[in-house]
Amino acid sequence: MASIGTELVNSLWFILPAYLANASPVVLGGGRPLDFGRSFPDKRRIFGDGKTWRGFVGGILVGVIVGIIQGIIYPYISLNAPANNLTVFPYGMRAVLLSIGALLGDISGSFVKRRINLKRGAPFPVMDQIGFLVFAFIITAWRFSVPMMYVIILLPLTFFAHLISNIAAYWAGLKTVWY
Ligand code: CTP
Ligand code: MG
Repeated sequence: MASIGTELVNSLWFILPAYLANASPVVLGGGRPLDFGRSFPDKRRIFGDGKTWRGFVGGILVGVIVGIIQGIIYPYISLNAPANNLTVFPYGMRAVLLSIGALLGDISGSFVKRRINLKRGAPFPVMDQIGFLVFAFIITAWRFSVPMMYVIILLPLTFFAHLISNIAAYWAGLKTVWY
């Protein structure tokens, strides 16, 4: 059994493609919405203007590139993690699943938000913070090992890291709402 510090580093290394896939759309997004402006039968938008093609595809590409880089540099850094011991190709494939999972989680959250009549950008606690992570775990587990210890560490860690970074961005004047 590895120490908690080792498990923490290993779980962050494991989830890095999903984190960066999830964070990139804010920078890369914009342009044509994923739902092309269309509505669902309930007359509300399918996903809304906050989910764009550029954000979706760009996020997946960033995550996959990060995974490939991890697979290349892995032999040169010392990480003691059996589940991370993959060669470049499986590293890249795992990053594909982590990234697609993260972005599917993101748009699923927006889909649910529109169904319950929440406007774009309205807070949806828990789903906003860790929805992407839950989807990334589930989709990745289809083909790769997802150690339960990583799930146990990353769910609360991501939840609080998300809140803290948003509060910091609010204090810094980068955001107009604290959540
Ligand atoms: N974004 C994007 N494409 C995506 C996801 C995000 O372009 N697939 C961009 C949008 O500019 C979005 C911003 O990143 O406004 C922040 O993302 P997020 O908080 O997920 O979207 P919200 O605007 O809060 O919309 P929603 O209420 O649907 O979550
Ligand atoms: Mg939001």
